[in-house]
Amino acid sequence: MTSFYLSKPYDPPQAPTNLPLDESWALFGGISPEQFMGRYWHKKPLLVRGAIPAFKLSAQSGESLESPIPTQDLLKFALDDEVESRLVKSKPWSFDSGPLTKRAIPSIHKPDWTLLFQGMEAHHPAAAKILSWFRFIPDARLDDLMISIAGIGGGVGPHFDSYDVFLIQMSGRRQWRISEQKDLSLNPNLPLKILQNFKPEENWILEPGDMLYLPPHIAHNGIALDAGCQTWSVGFRSPSFKELLQEGLWRLAESLEDIPALEGKFADPEQGATQSAEQLPDELIKQLRSKLKELKLDQIDGFLPGITAYLSEPKQQAFFDGPENPLNPREFSKKLGTSNLIPHPKTRILSLGKQVYCNGDNMVQGQKPDIGQAWQTLSATKMLTTSKLPKLDKSSLYEAYLAGWLVFQP
Ligand code: SIN
Ligand code: CO
Repeated sequence: MTSFYLSKPYDPPQAPTNLPLDESWALFGGISPEQFMGRYWHKKPLLVRGAIPAFKLSAQSGESLESPIPTQDLLKFALDDEVESRLVKSKPWSFDSGPLTKRAIPSIHKPDWTLLFQGMEAHHPAAAKILSWFRFIPDARLDDLMISIAGIGGGVGPHFDSYDVFLIQMSGRRQWRISEQKDLSLNPNLPLKILQNFKPEENWILEPGDMLYLPPHIAHNGIALDAGCQTWSVGFRSPSFKELLQEGLWRLAESLEDIPALEGKFADPEQGATQSAEQLPDELIKQLRSKLKELKLDQIDGFLPGITAYLSEPKQQAFFDGPENPLNPREFSKKLGTSNLIPHPKTRILSLGKQVYCNGDNMVQGQKPDIGQAWQTLSATKMLTTSKLPKLDKSSLYEAYLAGWLVFQP
């Protein structure tokens, strides 16, 4: 008798807008996001068997689930110059940046290579949906979803990352070895960041639907055990204080352009005769101190707009195309009454109180209150449908649509 084993791609659900933060989630092995954050986030690794129960449930009913992106479709992204990709071969170690030519993409049946695709939330809806599961962590911390595909034995070698990562096994098996070792010195003779003294302390084989969470600086090595092994990693960013302050200060300096009163010149009618002519005058210091106070430049609040604007900048390689046949403002407003306007997957939106920053720009400043409110909804729920905005010409909402930053949900 012939036995049929059906298989179909896994279709991840979009997370609801209001995540149940105090309820138990299979994704974290039965603890809630609140408990996960308290016990594991940024503290210690967590292995979750059956984090996506659909894989085991389907197998039990005689149907196997495949990755949402089949091997051949995924490999094609390596040819695309809009996708950030890397090819890593392990015997010997070598590294190539994409886009690759067709011939440079290894056969899935060959061993010891892996292809990694960064920012996949912008290129496949399944990747964007998986990111939505993690919106109990601030958007400002989220980086992107990376997908790796490998031949047997493939991997990027023992290394550590400076950020938190959720490694979701989506196809085939991967063996993970991890270590909390202090020695994180790298092998200086290799083209990749590979640890020179990796001493694994734990060893697990992850199957499709399993997930491993790693905080920063945990040494790890993932080796594909099956051809076409896919690992989807949700990665986070941890900017240095230097980066945050430099970017914040730079934007703060730029914003001074908009304050005409600062064109006023320093004057010193109070200056007395001095024996220390070489010193910066006390009078100048006094007046500067009061200016800084007056402009609140001596307080954190002065820096936060620039820092939020910086963190809302899209990835460097993100380019946006406006709609081919843009709706006019009236048509746009009508469609907004019936369709969902959502951020383009490459768009970043962050809020600072009621101010909303989209791709580096403040979208609320100088806008009518109802437009501000629309942006606040968009920022919080990543979606907007409203029939309450009849006048949209020259609004930042319409401009963002024309720029391709906001799109109607297909
Ligand atoms: C991989 O998916 O092969 C690499 C992920 C990682 O180690 O961070
Ligand atoms: Co890693």
